[in-house]
Amino acid sequence: MSDIIVTESLQVALWQAAKAAQVQAYAPYSRFLVGAAVLDEHGRIHAGCNVENAAYPQGTCAEAGALSAMILAGSRRAKAVMVLGEGSGLVTPCGGCRQKLREFASPDTLIFIASPQEVRTWFTLQQLLPESFGPEHLTT
Ligand code: THU
Repeated sequence: MSDIIVTESLQVALWQAAKAAQVQAYAPYSRFLVGAAVLDEHGRIHAGCNVENAAYPQGTCAEAGALSAMILAGSRRAKAVMVLGEGSGLVTPCGGCRQKLREFASPDTLIFIASPQEVRTWFTLQQLLPESFGPEHLTT
């Protein structure tokens, strides 16, 4: 499957996976539970949650967990991403996660932002990380 159209039903599947992942989050310090889900180039969905640590900087974001699951499953392309968290503000990926997504996504990859109730909005990766640095910059 080379090109994936993110249909309404795929969007719902991504949201459900992110919601199920959020429940598993380990966030005793911030108490801010986040779930993420990535749709790969084969149409499979990989989920992750944030995992905090008593040594605070060692904590990892939900997006990083979802990307790790995707790589472990043998996939290399993120075709769409769902990030789900609580609160009135949009839970958009942190700067580090935008760069992590950049490695496996394209400028037009959709990043959906959700609450446990609904998908709230979306951005392209290009919108979240303009003028970005990526693997192709390392080729001479
Ligand atoms: N967090 C994520 O997992 N993803 C995001 O997109 C935003 C922030 C986590 C990191 C930390 O465990 C907690 O949320 C509070 O920042």
